[in-house]
Amino acid sequence: MKIYLDTANLGEIREAARWGILSGVTTNPSLMARETGADFKETIQEIATLVDGPISAETVSEDADGMVREGIDYAAWHHNVIIKVPSTTDGLEAVSRLGQQGIRCNVTLCFSTSQALMAALAGAFVVSPFIGRLDDLSQDGMELIREIAAVYEQNPEIRTRILAASIRHPRHVVEAALAGAHIATCPFKVLQKCMRHPLTDSGMASFLADWRAREVDMALAGASAG
Ligand code: E4P
Repeated sequence: MKIYLDTANLGEIREAARWGILSGVTTNPSLMARETGADFKETIQEIATLVDGPISAETVSEDADGMVREGIDYAAWHHNVIIKVPSTTDGLEAVSRLGQQGIRCNVTLCFSTSQALMAALAGAFVVSPFIGRLDDLSQDGMELIREIAAVYEQNPEIRTRILAASIRHPRHVVEAALAGAHIATCPFKVLQKCMRHPLTDSGMASFLADWRAREVDMALAGASAG
């Protein structure tokens, strides 16, 4: 399973890109709104210099004509730009029309297997089931990933990739991989937590303490021999 970063913050993208684990980036209007004063086009183009992989840029129109217009505009910014459209019938039409022009789409705000199936049939490049937002409603977000994966598996003509979104913690990342997601898009804080473990910290502390004690012993031994 591949990892994308779910942010429009360039500092976070720069740091995670240095770790060598990023295959793409997803943004959305709310994430962009957090970057006060940042220009959307410049931000997407800067991200494209930091990560060599799909970068999702979301449309804000509610009708297919508007989504297609925005999609054609965004796709010209960089060849790695993927157009994010919502899981609506207008979104489907936009996927199909943009696809005819060779422009790839991410069908977002997916909360049901029927939406994921329709997105695939329209030719979506990726579909984004939102795990955390379903869990918030006491529904099983991971079960949605499992069901979409089973449906896609049974229909080999489907090429759409499953992008697990609305990831809240490291267990979501692991469970999404086990459930059949091809990609998980994660907030920066979740990626940091994926590498944290108290036994790693205490293990490093004791190794370093032992090493320093050894150096002191050797220095003392050297001094007494001299
Ligand atoms: C996905 O592409 C979305 O940007 C994102 O995962 C939404 O997550 P949220 O539910 O934490 O806002």
